[in-house]
Amino acid sequence: MPKTFSKLLSSAFFFLFTLLFWSINLASAKSNGFSNVLSPKRFGLKREKLSHLHFFFHDIVSGRNPTAVLVASAAMTEKSKTSFGAVVMADDPLTAAPQRNSKLVGKAQGIYAFAAQDEVGLLMVMNLVFMEGKYNGSSLNLLGRNTVFSTVREMPIVGGSGLFRFARGYAQAKTHTFDLKSGDAVVEYNVYVFHY
Ligand SMILES: *[C@@H]1O[C@H](CO)[C@@H](O)[C@H](O)[C@H]1NC(C)=O
Repeated sequence: MPKTFSKLLSSAFFFLFTLLFWSINLASAKSNGFSNVLSPKRFGLKREKLSHLHFFFHDIVSGRNPTAVLVASAAMTEKSKTSFGAVVMADDPLTAAPQRNSKLVGKAQGIYAFAAQDEVGLLMVMNLVFMEGKYNGSSLNLLGRNTVFSTVREMPIVGGSGLFRFARGYAQAKTHTFDLKSGDAVVEYNVYVFHY
């Protein structure tokens, strides 16, 4: 057999095998026009990362420019020792350092509601929207229980957008300062998330 012919033959075989392989692959990823199974790698999801974010959350309820406002309460909320029933909407600044005028890295936008009768226990439903560097425009979604007088509170991160697509993890919140008179608080957050 001439050398060029055998070369041609082997490349033809290679081509046929590749074709076969692809058609099997395609057949296994059947589409019903509504949903289909994708390969995470080919979709661009290569390596899952673990990120740590550290920032300070400023909950300002007093003064002329509060960042958290009471939007609803029940008839019995005022008599409740734990403010049970109060619902607060927040657009709280997140900064790199404890000082209010330190670098703004994002906002915590959402609701916290006083959901416990025997202790101050908040239901937190928050979007953590970031503005810093590559994270600008990306967000994390926090949903959990916040017993504000505990030293460290842990709340799940249930999802995210942008750089934080497929995020899951947890946030640990620790009160940095709490002004009993004004109700203003600065809370240190450490967030650990897996994402791509
Ligand atoms: C974040 O993005 C917005 C709009 O895309 C832009 O106006 C802003 O300057 C960016 N901020 C930073 C800190 O990069």
